[in-house]
Parts: sequence; C-alpha cells; structure tokens
Amino acid sequence: MRYFFLTFVILVVVVVATAGKRGSISRKPPLEIFPDMDKQPKLRPQTRGEVFANGLSSQLPVDGTVARGSAFEDSPVNTGKVAGTTNYVATIPMPVTAQLMERGEQRFNISCSPCHGRMGDGKGITTKFGMAVIADLHDSKTRKVVQQSDGEIFNTITYGKNLMGPYGGLVSIEDRWAIIAYLRALQRSRLGIEQDVPADVLPTLLGPVAPRAGVQKK
Ligand code: HEC
Repeated sequence: MRYFFLTFVILVVVVVATAGKRGSISRKPPLEIFPDMDKQPKLRPQTRGEVFANGLSSQLPVDGTVARGSAFEDSPVNTGKVAGTTNYVATIPMPVTAQLMERGEQRFNISCSPCHGRMGDGKGITTKFGMAVIADLHDSKTRKVVQQSDGEIFNTITYGKNLMGPYGGLVSIEDRWAIIAYLRALQRSRLGIEQDVPADVLPTLLGPVAPRAGVQKK
C-alpha cells in the first residue's frame, strides 16, 4: 500500500511537470490527447464568411419571421383576448361555418366527451372510473358556462381550469374555436327557449305536431 502511494505521488509530479497544469501559460500549442470536438470550423457572428453568397457570417431572419410573443399575441384568434388587453373576446373571432361546426362536433366527441359526455352534461365515461366532479356544460341551475364568453372557454381549453387539465397542446387553435361553436349549439339544444326560434319558423313548430314514432299521446 505504501509503495502504491509513493508511485502515485511520483506519477502525479511527473505528469504535472511534463504536461503542465491547467491554466499554465505556454507558447507551444497544448498537447491534446482527446481533442473531442474542441476544434470545429465555424463562423464568428458579424464577420466575413465565405459560406453565404453575400459574404456575411450573420444573416437576416427569413421573410415572415415573427418574434416570440409579438404578433402572435396581438391576435384574438390566438389568445381569446381582445388585443392589448386581458379581456376575453365575447364571441368566436372567426367565421362560424357549417364546416367549422362539423369539425367542432368531431373534435368535441374526441377530446371533450370522454369527461363531459357527448351531450356536454358532464356524464362522460370517465365518471365510471373515479372522475367525480366534471362540469356540466349546460349547468341549468347557474348557467355558468352558458354565460361565459367564448374567450373564457377558449382559455379553459387552452390552459385548463381547477381539476381540468390543459388541452392547448392537443387541440389546435382553430379546433378550439370549432369546439366552442359546437358547444354553443349543444347548449342551445338544451336550453333554447321559444323566443330563440326565428319568428317565421315558429308557427311551423307550434302547429299540429305529428306524434313521433314510439311516443304515445295521452
Ligand atoms: C379528463 C377529463 C376532462 C376532459 C377531457 C375535458 N374536461 Fe372540461 N372539465 C373537466 C373537469 C373535471 C371540470 C371541472 C373543473 C373544476 O371546476 O374543478 C371541467 C370544466 C370545464 C369547463 C367549465 C370551466 C369553469 O369555468 O368552471 C369547461 C367550459 C370545460 N371543462 C370545457 C371542456 C372542453 C371544451 C373540453 C374539450 C376540449 C374539455 N373540457 C375536456 C374535465 C375534463
């Protein structure tokens, strides 16, 4: 054991004496046993360089480049908020078309119905597996979600709320608005009242209604 220490100490002295210690100054190039990737061809910023046609090492950003957090956040479509404020937009900031609705129905049934149920009443399949308090999106007593602005629901989908996790990473921006359009239709189907029906269509609804198949008239 003693000889081991002696040899070790001598070895260290020899290595330091010949190779020098880290940080010591020498005019000779250092001995690099494992150069790893220390030396690589590279361009220093803002100098001449032969790689690009214009002879500069630094290039301008490509056309259409958007700085993080600038133009993206200025658009209500992306944030659900009125530009430059933290106020939620009242209505969907894009044209609501039949196509958007259909997409919304499909996306709602994929992303939301497992918890909220296909009807949006909070009775999705996950209630059978221990998810106890899922919001009823009609909430006929308080009409909480019915009265929320579209921007607030957009925010709930994007970032989640209380027990609900965020879905911004899974549902694209356009799909989020599509889901909201469909959710509004779902709510109308439950909570709509006589006055919601356009006046010219109303008589056709209130007229003699043919008994539906399977429904017995008492
Ligand atoms: C994993 C289950 C789950 C999924 C999937 C889910 N939610 Fe929820 N959601 C919840 C729960 C639980 C709550 C109640 C949160 C609370 O108040 O604690 C909730 C609450 C809400 C609310 C009410 C928020 C409020 O202001 O009280 C809205 C609106 C909503 N969800 C919309 C959606 C939409 C739209 C989708 C589909 C993109 C979706 N959720 C997907 C579980 C889920």
